[in-house]
This record gives sequence, C-alpha cells and structure tokens, in this order.
Amino acid sequence: MRILFATGNEHKISEAAAILAPLGHEVEPLLIQGKPPDFIEPQAEGIVEVALSKIEQARELVMGTKLEDSIILVEDSGLFIDALGGFPGPYSSYVESTIGLSGILQLMSAESERGAEFRAITAISIEGNTVTATGICRGKISEQFSGDMGFGYDPIFIPEDGDGRTCGEMSSFDKSSISHRGRALKAVSELLNPPSK
Ligand code: IMP
Repeated sequence: MRILFATGNEHKISEAAAILAPLGHEVEPLLIQGKPPDFIEPQAEGIVEVALSKIEQARELVMGTKLEDSIILVEDSGLFIDALGGFPGPYSSYVESTIGLSGILQLMSAESERGAEFRAITAISIEGNTVTATGICRGKISEQFSGDMGFGYDPIFIPEDGDGRTCGEMSSFDKSSISHRGRALKAVSELLNPPSK
C-alpha cells in the first residue's frame, strides 16, 4: 500500500519507509500545496489524543482534494523519564526546543534511577476508519551525549534491548528494530494486513 505520512520530520519519514518497506508498504510524505501540514497540537493532552487530533486534521486537509482517498499516517511520540514523573512526556518537543538535551541531563545529574521510555502512537486513516497502535522502547538516560545519528533525544537514550549504545550511535536499521516507532509501525501494519493463520 502507498501510505502518506503527515509529518515535517524527515527522520521519521525515512525511519518509517525503512520499517514498512519489507512489510510491503511504500511511505511518502503527505504534502499539501508542496508542504507538510502544520498541525495544531492540543496542549495538556496525552500523546494518544494528540495523534487522534492530528489524523482528524489531516483528513480535513485532504477532503475534497485528489488525496481524499489516500491512506494517511500520523504519529505522536515522546520521552517519559521515570524519576521526573514521566516528564517531558507530551511536552517533549517543547522541552527539546527550550532547555534541550543538556537541560535534561542537568535535571538528571543527581539521579541514580535513570529509567525512561520512548512511546509512540501511530494512527492510520484508511477508507474512513482510523486504526491506532502503540510502541514502547524502555531504556535509560545516559550520563552524557553520545552519537550524532538519528534525531531528538537519541544521543541521550540507551535502549534496554540494545547493546549499550545510545540511539544516537546506532544506524537507523539497528534503532528501528527495537524502537518505539518500529514497534508501533509494525503493529499498525499488522492491523492493515492481519498475518494469515
Ligand atoms: P513529535 O512526535 O514529533 O511531537 O516528537 C516529540 C518529541 O520527541 C520531539 O522532541 C522529538 O524530537 C522526540 N522524539 C520522538 N521520537 C524520537 C526518536 O525516535 N528519537 C529521539 N527523539 C524522539
């Protein structure tokens, strides 16, 4: 299937394309007048509500255009740190662009309990229906930045199912095999194509 991913994040598009290609799906960006849609993110909501709001907005944007019958994918994700009560969670984007990764390392400087998880909610709109799936990647916040691959919080997140490297030190292939996005996209794709029994 051809799936249009409504995001302005090129890293997310290339990760999703690599994850979904072996499952038989082609991922392309959803562009409205040549640009990715600019969603209004409801504030003080969880990532599920944000993902559902984004899919609703995307559907409204394509209504009446030649993309009206397309299969549309949206995603919302965040980093949830145990010792900070799940912060930054739904505020992950805002926190990344304000205090940044160094601010997070500073907040965590006296913490020995460094557990955290990335969560992703993917939602796909197909033939007027919406299917959603969640992906979680447990891990911990590193003591310092490592690696310049990936994006966002990757240089300070060490996944539990990895080999001790941060996501920022992993190839996109290695990261996607265990990431929240990889898991959510595989789960949502199974809902589109249930495995044969
Ligand atoms: P959003 O889903 O694009 O709103 O992303 C929320 C925040 O989580 C942003 O600050 C992203 O950079 C961060 N984020 C989402 N997914 C990842 C990831 O796979 N690695 C690192 N940071 C991520």
